[in-house]
Amino acid sequence: MKHFLDVDQLSSANVLALVERALGFKNLPHHDYPKYSGVVLLQVFYENSTRTQLSFELAAKNLGLTVLSLDPKRSSESKGEAMQDMCQTFAAMGVQLMVMRHPEDGALQALSQAAPDALQLVNAGDGMYAHPTQAMLDIMTMIENKLVPRDMKIALVGNIRHSRVAQSLQRLCRVLDVGELALIGPEAWLPKNIIYGHTTSSLQDGLKNADVVMTLRVQHERFSKDDDVCDLAMYRENYAITSNTLAYAKPDALVMHPGPMNRGVEIDSEVADGPQSRILKQVQNGVFMRMAILERLIQYQNLRYDG
Ligand code: NCD
Repeated sequence: MKHFLDVDQLSSANVLALVERALGFKNLPHHDYPKYSGVVLLQVFYENSTRTQLSFELAAKNLGLTVLSLDPKRSSESKGEAMQDMCQTFAAMGVQLMVMRHPEDGALQALSQAAPDALQLVNAGDGMYAHPTQAMLDIMTMIENKLVPRDMKIALVGNIRHSRVAQSLQRLCRVLDVGELALIGPEAWLPKNIIYGHTTSSLQDGLKNADVVMTLRVQHERFSKDDDVCDLAMYRENYAITSNTLAYAKPDALVMHPGPMNRGVEIDSEVADGPQSRILKQVQNGVFMRMAILERLIQYQNLRYDG
């Protein structure tokens, strides 16, 4: 693959091969990681990030890449330089991979049309549109726990309409033909266009028979006018994952959260830190999944230029 913009560019076989490679990296001692020295990766994050940015940085360093990061607030873009010209500059310096997070939906897709041929783009989250590496590490965590995509039921709870995590996860579930995906939240937060799965405003109905209960952060920064109908107390009352509500799902259901968490809002500490939680496994797996994705991108480019 030339760029990694969203998961719907992958086939089910591609996804499973990346998961297998990522699980393989997890079992390898550090000194056995392949080294792609000479490859330069640049991170450009227009939005705050803790785990995604560090995870990409670590993944790249594990593979022997040279890692640069640019703070957009301090870049020449603030002097009016067009992103397209900046991309030419990066490519001229030998940057091969650009990992970008951007507040606008579709920003990476648009940039991929204008970027120089030698530059490969990796989407680290764009607006409310996509967060493909998150969806990949989430599915990896489910498969690692012996769940079979076609047979499993995922219950996704929260602001589905405004979440890029929810958009990419729906697309990935469609690619993998996942058994069942329940999208759960108050009416105002349910998607206008469902990509995959079915919606319900009843947490109890949605969690029934679920193998995975994944809840999303209540994102105050993405509240819009139609969210007025959803206040925090009402959300917590009806949708929080607590030890009581978790009991609606299968007894051994995995608890997941992409982070960052608002403890005591969408999830209780008892559950987040409990035996069913895989939240820190998601973080750990993120590094290996990003290694697998970066390696695939590097191999694609090597083949184009060498063979
Ligand atoms: C998410 C994001 O930024 O899209 N976090 C993450 O990358 N793990 C979700 C969020 O911010 O709530």
